[in-house]
Amino acid sequence: MSGEEGTRGDRSRAGFQAPKGTRDILPPESERWRRVLELAHRLFRAYGYREIILPVMEYTEVFARGIGEGTDIVRKEMFTFLDKGGRSLTLRPEATAGVARAFAQHRMDKMGLPVKLYYCGPMFRHERPQAGRYRQFHQVGVELIGSPYPSADAEVILLCREFLGSLGIATRLAVNSVGDDSCRPAYIEALRAYLEGRADELCPDCRRRMKENTLRVLDCKERSCAAVIAGAPGLGDYLCESCRAHHRAVEDLLGAAEVEFVREERLVRGLDYYTRTVFEFQDPELGGQNALAAGGRYDHLVEEMGGGPVPAVGFSIGVERVMNAEPRLSGDGRWGVYLVAIGEEARRRAFLMASRVRAEGLRCDLDHMERSLRAQMKEADRQGYRYCLILGEDELRGGFLTLRDLEGGTQERLVAAGEDWLRELRERVGPERRGGDACDA
Ligand code: HAM
Repeated sequence: MSGEEGTRGDRSRAGFQAPKGTRDILPPESERWRRVLELAHRLFRAYGYREIILPVMEYTEVFARGIGEGTDIVRKEMFTFLDKGGRSLTLRPEATAGVARAFAQHRMDKMGLPVKLYYCGPMFRHERPQAGRYRQFHQVGVELIGSPYPSADAEVILLCREFLGSLGIATRLAVNSVGDDSCRPAYIEALRAYLEGRADELCPDCRRRMKENTLRVLDCKERSCAAVIAGAPGLGDYLCESCRAHHRAVEDLLGAAEVEFVREERLVRGLDYYTRTVFEFQDPELGGQNALAAGGRYDHLVEEMGGGPVPAVGFSIGVERVMNAEPRLSGDGRWGVYLVAIGEEARRRAFLMASRVRAEGLRCDLDHMERSLRAQMKEADRQGYRYCLILGEDELRGGFLTLRDLEGGTQERLVAAGEDWLRELRERVGPERRGGDACDA
């Protein structure tokens, strides 16, 4: 962690606070969160992707080489530290470089191309925290590795759009081509010439970027720079014939699939590894200030990581940004069975019954606070249970159980004997939603 906050600000009079720029995700928000992850697992798998689980740290070189020494991420935003052997490690600021490193390390090209991988998990960037920008944030993303063809670019864009659309989030899709090594140098030269003419209007960072990594000026969000950038030459006029043909084919496929997009000639994105296609799904009101998801093609990264010359394309979606964009995403709703028991014998029975209900995959709980019957029912309601299964004195005496539907307000009797109650419960409660796919993001 950064030294400045390490010793102050993390302990208030009320106790410890989470580190600056990090968040605790509590219920019910954690339930909405899980919905987003479940959708990612389901949809990415439906498109043929398989999950890759990576370390949250890499040797610093992976990011320095992969993302680029001159980028803001590598220059200013990495959480970097030395291990006990003196090797420099960095908490991952993004996952694409790690995926490319793993692909090269495990010779995954032998699996047959393309290899389609997806991931979810925390990323770390030492940015100035503000709305939608955190120091620990989470991404879900995919990487399609091995195809140089435009259909791969178009498919990942389609998938990203489907993901956001399924959550009911409206976005503006911006696309561009950043060309390749054969055409980009001429563009960079033209851009530098233009920027030099207006250098006194640029922020100090951009004056440095202009000399060291000219393209990165186009990522700057400072107001004074934005005005300069708006008049800068676009990439379109500088693309070589093969990059132009590639881009045209991607746009054609998007058009054929009825995907609306805008061509943003100065969109370059803040990472150096991109070649040809780049894209962003932006908040329609905030534009490029707050991309919900972004990605592009990176044809040299795997090679940079020590693998063969394997082209690739992918995207990442910011989970926090998606959650902020869609506050109506529902939580879990009412589900499961709360066992309400009165008296020592009934409590003991309920304690044993709970395991049976849980073994059915149903959410189930019971009172551990010695509450009254009324208070237990209230607790079941407060915790969002759909049913109460009641074992009171009448029930024990009469050899039955009362199943109360808290949503419908109805109740009925189940036979308590042997396994009958479980079978009847299963029939009444039906195929209720079970616990979702797990993901450690
Ligand atoms: P990125 O644009 O740096 O791209 O990040 C992707 C998404 O992560 C952003 O659009 C945003 O939603 C979210 N994000 C980034 N920084 C923060 C932050 N500080 N707080 C909250 N959310 C954030 C990449 O990371 C590339 N790896 C994308 C990619 C995949 N390109 C090819 N494959």
